[in-house]
Amino acid sequence: MIEIAREAGALLMSYFARRIGYQYKGDVDIVTEADRATEALITDRIRARWPRHDVMGEEGTRLTSGGDYRWYVDPLDGTTNFAHGFPIFCVSLGLEYKGELIAGVVFDPTRDELFAAEQGSGAWLNQRRIHVSQVERLDESLLATGFPSHKRHQNPNIFFYHQITLRSHGVRRPGSAALDLASVAAGRLDGFWEFNLNPWDTAGGAVLVREAGGTLSDFSGGPFQIASHEVLASNGRIHASLLREFQAVFEGRGLEELPSLSDYATSRKQG
Ligand code: IPD
Ligand code: CA
Ligand code: CA
Repeated sequence: MIEIAREAGALLMSYFARRIGYQYKGDVDIVTEADRATEALITDRIRARWPRHDVMGEEGTRLTSGGDYRWYVDPLDGTTNFAHGFPIFCVSLGLEYKGELIAGVVFDPTRDELFAAEQGSGAWLNQRRIHVSQVERLDESLLATGFPSHKRHQNPNIFFYHQITLRSHGVRRPGSAALDLASVAAGRLDGFWEFNLNPWDTAGGAVLVREAGGTLSDFSGGPFQIASHEVLASNGRIHASLLREFQAVFEGRGLEELPSLSDYATSRKQG
């Protein structure tokens, strides 16, 4: 997996250096030539070495032989960033055996950072073992979230973003869910959540978080499932506080008010 992720990352960088071939697929979901070529490369490598493994890739690969192993492939997570030349993106690979996630690799080719984890063997960044952070309090936590690039009007996350921004040390929105999960695993972020992600976005990163000692769940504290479209990941220590915030927002309890725009407009005029 590591070899394949590194080769895929090198291919992405060759496109990134040239910044060619951008195309729009509806709204602002930009599909690049790089996405497709990188998924094709990853699929070829898997097929050559493990012809009986199943593969589900974001760009449409569906290899289903009904075998025990299944790969979840996001050849380029952070496509919008990539397309604009904003260097936050990665290759994400997750591997399942008999329905259980057993390995994950997330490779950031812009920083040459390779995150890898295997069930029971811990999580690693390049040659170094990584662990989640030890921050205990939500108000001292640095978090991340994400917003989808399409159907944005149906996404309620702005309410959670507002509430949790005011209750934490800050909420970032880097634009690559797999790297956000890897950052939780490495202790660079204390938590991450997002609505409506797909299995290829979360499979690799979920193994990293788990093996680095973190916690994953849905927004009610139920078990995280890659098909569930809800991911809340944290260092474990702040998980209960985050779940309480989610509960409060869903129930509309104790919400922070947005500042009044008309008051602000008046104060501007008054200087
Ligand atoms: C996207 C990124 C982004 C997240 C979006 C995803 P893509 O994946 O992970 O951070 O907010 O929901 O769709 O389209 O760049 O592979
Ligand atoms: Ca993705
Ligand atoms: Ca993608």
